[in-house]
Amino acid sequence: MKDAQNPVAYTLPPARGTDPPNAPGYIDFRSDTVTYPTMEMFQAMIHSSMGDDVYGEETDTIALEEQVAKLFGKEAGCFVLTGTMANQLAIRSHVAHPPASIIVDARCHVWAWEAGATSYHTGAQMVPVYLPAGSYLDADSVSPFIRDYSNYHIAPTKLICVENTLDGEVVPIANLQSLYNLSRASKPVIPIHLDGARLWNAHVATGVPLADYGKLVDSISVCFSKGLGTMMGSCVVGTKDFIDNVRRYRKIFGGGWRQSGPLAAAASYAIDHHLPLLKHEHALASYLGAELVSLGFSLTRRVDTNMVWIDLENSFKRLGVKSTAKDFQNKLWEEEKVKVGVDARGVARVIIHGQNHAGVQKIIRVLKSFS
Ligand SMILES: Cc1ncc(COP(=O)(O)O)c(C=O)c1O
Repeated sequence: MKDAQNPVAYTLPPARGTDPPNAPGYIDFRSDTVTYPTMEMFQAMIHSSMGDDVYGEETDTIALEEQVAKLFGKEAGCFVLTGTMANQLAIRSHVAHPPASIIVDARCHVWAWEAGATSYHTGAQMVPVYLPAGSYLDADSVSPFIRDYSNYHIAPTKLICVENTLDGEVVPIANLQSLYNLSRASKPVIPIHLDGARLWNAHVATGVPLADYGKLVDSISVCFSKGLGTMMGSCVVGTKDFIDNVRRYRKIFGGGWRQSGPLAAAASYAIDHHLPLLKHEHALASYLGAELVSLGFSLTRRVDTNMVWIDLENSFKRLGVKSTAKDFQNKLWEEEKVKVGVDARGVARVIIHGQNHAGVQKIIRVLKSFS
């Protein structure tokens, strides 16, 4: 469907598969982390290997680690429980000991949303770089924050962390290239870790091959439990020596697991069957964003992938609507059993994933009822 007012077409994406009988009875846009396995994914899980991963005998887990490492052009991978664990293990493995500082984008997950884990696990000082909307880390924005070893009053820079996608926006490959050039020109070289929880989305949105990202950074963490739709699981990739270190720290963190086969089978199923479907969720997000703008709402971020951030409270004020973002959130829940996130500034976060397609028109309908 394409109407004259709105140039972005509405198409209901193909279903990911069959819902399990215990699927939640509501539609959830708060995150893509809320996705759960389809019956088809459960089928893959029950046919997995059942070896013990700590003994190094879990064949589906080994196959998954090899599959992911190969996709990103890296030597090895380590399958872990969560995205936070993947990031923290990678950071800990890059930064051997204090004194150390780590340069990060102030909007990124490792700085803002991991409970201060890097200070706790690695003892490093985080140096957040604050950039305007639409700008991302590159050599120019990072260079002023690099500290060297020449002065013992300061913590030398031992790592740069980037995130892609960042709040749904694609970080241009040119930024990563310029960071890579800076990192290799530094003495000693400053490694780069990429939090690629949603790098799958960046790859699908841009067509940049996954291995091209791998060439520009030293390690990557990817999640299977976001848009790819598994219930848990992430993978860190890097050189073989680096991953040996990650594996050792995973044990120290209490993350050495046993029969991880079903989770590995789910992750592998998700790469093979769900990755190609992300483009449909991006198209739906793009439709929703365009529709909202045409209704007079402003968005706080570009809709490059699957996230739509609506500046609801300010839009209501501008449109003369005497309601709050919370009113919208409550009405959407009460009338449609649809959940969206609303933050303290009254910005609504709508994340499209494989199990909430049917809710998009409900959001539009309820928003229209406020105007
Ligand atoms: C960009 C990013 N990195 C890492 C994580 C952490 O993942 P987890 O919740 O599995 O620890 C998240 C979680 O939403 C995320 O959005």
